Amino acid sequence: LSAGDKSNVKAVFGKIGGQADEYGADALERMFATYPQTKTYFPHFDLGKGSAQVKGHGKKVAAALVEAANNVDDLAGALSKLSDLHAQKLRVDPVNFKLLGQCFLVVVATRNPSLLTPEVHASLDKFLCAVDTVLTAKYR
Ligand code: HEM
Repeated sequence: LSAGDKSNVKAVFGKIGGQADEYGADALERMFATYPQTKTYFPHFDLGKGSAQVKGHGKKVAAALVEAANNVDDLAGALSKLSDLHAQKLRVDPVNFKLLGQCFLVVVATRNPSLLTPEVHASLDKFLCAVDTVLTAKYR
C-alpha cells in the first residue's frame, strides 16, 4: 500500500468511527446471504436476520479491521493471533476471505456512498487483500 492508500484507509475507518460494529455485522449478513457456502463455517451460530451472534461476531471482525488499519505498517504483527486462528484452527478456505472483503466494500458503498471514490475504493480493496494475505499466510 502506498502512503496515499494508507491515508485513504485511515480516513475510511475514521469516518466509520463508532459504527464499525454495524458495518462488520452488515458485511457478515451480506456474505451469508450472497455466498451461502460461507455459512458452513458457522454451524454453531444462529444466522437468522438480526441474530445477536452475528452482531457480536461483526463487532469482533470490525475491531480486527480497525486494529489492522491502525497498524497498517505492521499488519502481520497486528493480525498474528488471528492468522494462527484462521489458518491452524479454523482452516477457512482462503477463497472466503475475498468474499467477506467484497461484502465489506459493498457495505461501505451503500452506507456511505460519497466516501467511496474510485481512489478510496482501490485503497480499501488493497488493504482488504493485504489483511486476507496475512490471515491466510500460515496455511500449510
Ligand atoms: C473468528 C476476524 C474472515 C470464519 C474470528 C474472530 C475475529 C475474526 C476477530 C474472533 C476471534 C476470537 O474470538 O478470538 C476475521 C477477519 C476476517 C475474517 C478480520 C477477514 C477480513 C473470516 C472468513 C471466515 C471466518 C472469511 C469464513 C467464511 C471465522 C470463524 C470464527 C472466526 C468460524 C470463529 C467464530 C466463533 O466460533 O466464535 N474472525 N475473520 N473468518 N472467523 Fe474470522
